Amino acid sequence: MGSALKYELKQQRATDQIRSLLESHRVGWTLQQHFYRDPAIFELDLKRIFGRYWLFSGHVSQVRHPGDYIIYQIGIDQVIIVRDHDEEIRAFFNTCRHRGSLICTEPTGRLKSFVCPYHQWSYALDGSLKAGKHLPDDFDKSEFNLHKAHCRVMEGLIFISLSDQPPDFSPVELDAVPHLKPHGLERAKICQTRRYDVRANWKLIDENARECYHCPGSHKQYCHAVMSAAAVNSPALALRHSSVLAEKAARWKEIGLETEPKPFRPGTYHSVSRFVFRPGVVTESLDGQPVAPLMGRLTEPDSGVLGLGIYPNLLFEASSDHAVTLRFTPVGPELTRVEMNWLVHEGAVEGRDYEVKRVEAVWRATAEQDWKLCEDNQTGVNSSRYQPGPYVKVEWGCEHFIEWYLNELRGTWEPNS
Ligand code: FES
Ligand SMILES: [Fe+2]
Repeated sequence: MGSALKYELKQQRATDQIRSLLESHRVGWTLQQHFYRDPAIFELDLKRIFGRYWLFSGHVSQVRHPGDYIIYQIGIDQVIIVRDHDEEIRAFFNTCRHRGSLICTEPTGRLKSFVCPYHQWSYALDGSLKAGKHLPDDFDKSEFNLHKAHCRVMEGLIFISLSDQPPDFSPVELDAVPHLKPHGLERAKICQTRRYDVRANWKLIDENARECYHCPGSHKQYCHAVMSAAAVNSPALALRHSSVLAEKAARWKEIGLETEPKPFRPGTYHSVSRFVFRPGVVTESLDGQPVAPLMGRLTEPDSGVLGLGIYPNLLFEASSDHAVTLRFTPVGPELTRVEMNWLVHEGAVEGRDYEVKRVEAVWRATAEQDWKLCEDNQTGVNSSRYQPGPYVKVEWGCEHFIEWYLNELRGTWEPNS
């Protein structure tokens, strides 16, 4: 049998196997093992999910000045996110239109224009090819601009899509912007960055981020601050939580904050809501007291926690004085890179207005606890005895996530494409 035919048969078997896995999923249960570790499914995830959706990429302060750029790598693609001379933030695939070399070889930097290191073709910050030595006189440079990626900025948060036709982002903006706006994120700065290589499939990390069933057992610091997390396994606290939430929401409304929660619903891929602290706590800090100056146009230290989740790769929480972004990037079937950035008011001065250790403490602890849970989850899922298990009611967020994920795979599923 020729090797081309063998390859085709192998592909066909993989296609049939994935199709039957999709068909046999039981609603309300975790995925079958293949989805968490199979390289063929990982490739499909990169193509159908990460190749299509809006991906949180960074914060505007990372490209504050014209020519500033950052690189975000997803699978085989590197994307350059740059602020051009007109102050617009743009995204381009990091591949030269001559012979394909990387153009930016450093992960961040500041440039006047892009110059390919191989043969020095040069491009303006808007991606247009400007010059190249030995180009014929009749060479049409306009045919060789850098490939663009879709890019948009929502309240200082930068999103890109690798797809030619990304999903509609306006429902996300419609729901999230009124909640985000008072936090003044576009005038924030990053005060701390942490990166983690988590030995778990990206979906285990997304699932972990979608439920707080595990919070009372694992997140001492988070539960000390956030009432709903602590209330998960306590009916008495849950009852109290409802009345505290109603009371706080009334106050937030008075001071002009959006309070209507927009949870994940069928057909949506985002959730945003403001939730309450435990009594005596006003921010996500170890002692519950402020750790930095108020951000944006917030006027009260206790403005609750604004939580935002956008599939497939963003988790965001903001207190009145700081915020944190978590960006999940799949690197392998059992490896996900997480980048966390902590934001404070851009005018805040370290040492005078804040200490990084105090700002990052709750979410650093929470995240590191989560990575351990996710890695242990992956190791257990890899067992010969692993079978899908049932989600309980408080894990409805996981169920939504899994249904969204499978529908994406099913809905856009075109054999042999
Ligand atoms: S590959 Fe970029 S100039 Fe040749
Ligand atoms: Fe967690």
